Amino acid sequence: MGTGAGRSLFTPRHQLDIIRAKLAQHSVGQEVPWVLVNRDDHAYIVGAVTLTGIVRGPFLNANLGYWVDASLNRRGIGAAAVRFATDHARTELGLHRVQAATLLHNEPSRKILKRAGFREIGVAPQYLKIAGRWQDHLLHQLVLHG
Ligand SMILES: CC(C)(COP(=O)(O)OP(=O)(O)OC[C@H]1O[C@@H](n2cnc3c(N)ncnc32)[C@H](O)[C@@H]1OP(=O)(O)O)[C@@H](O)C(=O)NCCC(=O)NCCS
Repeated sequence: MGTGAGRSLFTPRHQLDIIRAKLAQHSVGQEVPWVLVNRDDHAYIVGAVTLTGIVRGPFLNANLGYWVDASLNRRGIGAAAVRFATDHARTELGLHRVQAATLLHNEPSRKILKRAGFREIGVAPQYLKIAGRWQDHLLHQLVLHG
């Protein structure tokens, strides 16, 4: 996610802008954003999972993104979030396909996708701008109604 000149991602104002943009996308059926909440500890947000770019018609497709607080990794939270979102895409949204893109060296994310039933499609060169540069990504897809 890019930040504008002179604006920090980590300000209430910018976070509010992001939330408003997500809700606007949700209201027109193009995005479903969830946050993962630790209810045992002051209900703080420990991650997120989002279906973006939802397209209906003959494509019935969405892109999947997710992150989990690094202090809580390796507890199965990421895997559970991905399963939840793909189940929702199938049962509630009636989508046909979900796509996810990982950096080539992101082994934890690749493991999560493989276990959730995603298949690797191949490498898309310079697919996303991550950490300031266009980086190759491994594309994965899950066909929901095979
Ligand atoms: C990728 C990410 C979502 C994994 O979250 P998580 O809650 O740790 O995921 P899980 O606990 O379900 O772990 C999945 C697998 O990765 C492994 N793993 C998780 N973190 C790891 C780490 N830092 N180093 C090595 N392996 C790791 C787990 O052990 C597990 O493998 P296993 O089932 O063989 O034990 C999290 O690290 C993250 O938010 N990364 C940054 C953002 C990102 O990469 N998002 C995905 C974009 S495609």
